[in-house]
Amino acid sequence: MTRALGIIAAAAMILLFAALMIVVMPAVQLQAASQAPEGLEPYSEQALRGRQTYISLGCVYCHSQQPRDPSIAPDGLRGWGRPSVPGDYAYDAPHQLGTMRTGPDLMNIGARQPSVDWHLTHLYNPRIVMPWSTMPAYPFLFEETDVVLDGDTQVKLPEEISPGVFDVVAKPEALNLVQYLLELDRSYPVDEIPTIEVAGSQGEP
Ligand code: HEC
Repeated sequence: MTRALGIIAAAAMILLFAALMIVVMPAVQLQAASQAPEGLEPYSEQALRGRQTYISLGCVYCHSQQPRDPSIAPDGLRGWGRPSVPGDYAYDAPHQLGTMRTGPDLMNIGARQPSVDWHLTHLYNPRIVMPWSTMPAYPFLFEETDVVLDGDTQVKLPEEISPGVFDVVAKPEALNLVQYLLELDRSYPVDEIPTIEVAGSQGEP
């Protein structure tokens, strides 16, 4: 009987220790790391709606949102911003980190490209602004119309593309998506950026 009690007590201690190490400690560590930093504004309502469109259209399959440390990749030289820190994602649920980089990292696209007109034209057809682009066009976020009403946001198209037969106006989905892109801006300063040493790394592309 005493022996059985001893075994139960030992098992309970092991379980308790395991729970502390793999449940409680990581939770405490993550809680501190994922607090929203002072410089980070929460997303606006409109941007949150745009974020849903970003998710539903699968932008994450070609775009990451995680500028990396210089020892891993020259993302800073590419103009994609400082390496991201956990707090940058405080308002991101679910996060859109992404693993593919068919297109550029978008974590700081709002700081890099703040023009609503540019984004609308690019989403309507990326080839208008980047002739070599392999990004899909999203014409269904827009309406081709003969009548532009007051309050409509008209997409700026070059003469040769829009021969005056129809005008293109942005649907709310397009405007929301662009608002989300503009609010993707993590250029606020952070106190500490953890650095990592990767032996022999040349910085993969
Ligand atoms: C099939 C891959 C692919 C998908 C899906 C895709 N993109 Fe792109 N994207 C690219 C490529 C390639 C570029 C670079 C060429 C260009 O600017 O069009 C790019 C560029 C961009 C840029 C400009 C980045 C910069 O640094 O100038 C933005 C903004 C952008 N994409 C937003 C989006 C959004 C929003 C979606 C989802 C609605 C999306 N992309 C879906 C491939 C993709």
